[in-house]
Amino acid sequence: MLVLGIETSCDETGLAVYDSERGLLAHTLYSQVKLHAEYGGVVPELASRDHVRKIIPLLKRVLEEANISKVDIDGIAYTSGPGLMGALMVGGAMATALGFALDIPVLGVHHMEGHLLAPMLEDSPPNFPFVALLVSGGHTQLVSVKAIGEYELLGESLDDAAGEAFDKTAKMLDLDYPGGPVLAVMADRGQIDRFDFPRPMTDRPGLDFSFSGLKTFTRNLIHKHRGADELPDDKTILDICAGFQEAVVDSLVIKCRRALNQTQMKTLVIAGGVSANTRLRHKLEVALAKEGAEVFYARHEFCTDNGAMIAYAGCQRLIAGQANKLEISATPRWPLDQLPALESSLKGK
Ligand code: KG4
Ligand code: ZN
Repeated sequence: MLVLGIETSCDETGLAVYDSERGLLAHTLYSQVKLHAEYGGVVPELASRDHVRKIIPLLKRVLEEANISKVDIDGIAYTSGPGLMGALMVGGAMATALGFALDIPVLGVHHMEGHLLAPMLEDSPPNFPFVALLVSGGHTQLVSVKAIGEYELLGESLDDAAGEAFDKTAKMLDLDYPGGPVLAVMADRGQIDRFDFPRPMTDRPGLDFSFSGLKTFTRNLIHKHRGADELPDDKTILDICAGFQEAVVDSLVIKCRRALNQTQMKTLVIAGGVSANTRLRHKLEVALAKEGAEVFYARHEFCTDNGAMIAYAGCQRLIAGQANKLEISATPRWPLDQLPALESSLKGK
C-alpha cells in the first residue's frame, strides 16, 4: 500500500511517501523556525498561514522524489492531533480534499503515535512489546507498548515537558531560538558537576516526572552569577547548560530503568525531539547495557516532527482497514491511550 503522510501539527510542514512493500520512498520537510524566531516561540496563526503556503509545493516535490504521481497513492494519513488547531486543519483539509478527489481512504493519525513508531523506519527496528519514552516539546510520557494501538500510560510529567524545560532554560540564558538543541550543544562543552542540580522526583517511587523545579534552580543560579549584562560569564553559562542537561537526562534514565524493571521488559524506545539528544542516548545505552536491555531510536531527522512517521503510522492503520469518514478531524488534545488497537492479525508487524 502506497501512503502519503502529512504532518502540520506545529511549526514544521512534513510530507512523505511510504510503501508497505518497499519502505520509505521520499520525505520532505519545511521548518518555520526563522518565521517564529523573532517572537521567541511559535505564533499559531502565522504557523497555519505558512503551512497553507508550503503544503502544495511540498506535495509536488515529494511525489517527484518518490517518482510517483497522485493517482498512484492508495491512502493518505495526516496528523489530526494533538497540536495547534489551525495548523492541524491545514493538513486535514489538504488530506481530505485529495482523498475525496482520488477516491481513496484518508486517516487522521495521532502525532505521538507517529513519534513512537518512527524507530520502525530504521534498518533494525525494535520488536514489540517495549517501553516507550516519549520526550517532545509538549509531552514527557512513559508508555507500555504491547502492539500498535495497545498503549498504557505508565507515567508522565506533572508540569513542563522535557523539551519545554530545555527551551525555557535556553531562553533564560538568552540562547538562540529554538533553544533546546542549542542548549544541548553548549552543554557538551560545559562542566557537568560544577553546580549541584537536583534530580526531581527520583527519590520517591513512581514513574512521573517534574521539570519545573530545574527552571527555578537555573533562574537562581543566573541571578547569583550574573555580571554587568544580567547574564553570567560564558564559562558559567556553559556549566549551567551542562548541569541542567545532566539533571534532565539522569531523571529520564532513572525512570526508564524503573519502567523496564516494573514491566519486566528489555526493550526501550525513545522518541520525540529530545530523543535526538546525544547525552540522553549515550547514558541510556550505558545504563541499559548493564541490565541486558536495549534502547532504540530514530535517526536524528525523524526524532523531531516529520511526515515520514505519520506516513508509516497511518499505513499500518490504513492496511488494517481504518479510515475517517469524509470529514476533517482535528483534535488538539487527545490522550494516546484512547487510540483503537489494530486487528489482532496485524499484531507484531
Ligand atoms: O517532537 P518535536 O519536534 O515537537 C513536538 O512534538 O513537540 O520536539 C521538539 C522539542 C523542542 O522542545 C526541542 O527543544 C527539543 O525537542 N529538542 C531537543 C533536542 N533537539 C530537539 N532537546 C534536547 N536536546 C536536543 N538535541
Ligand atoms: Zn512532535
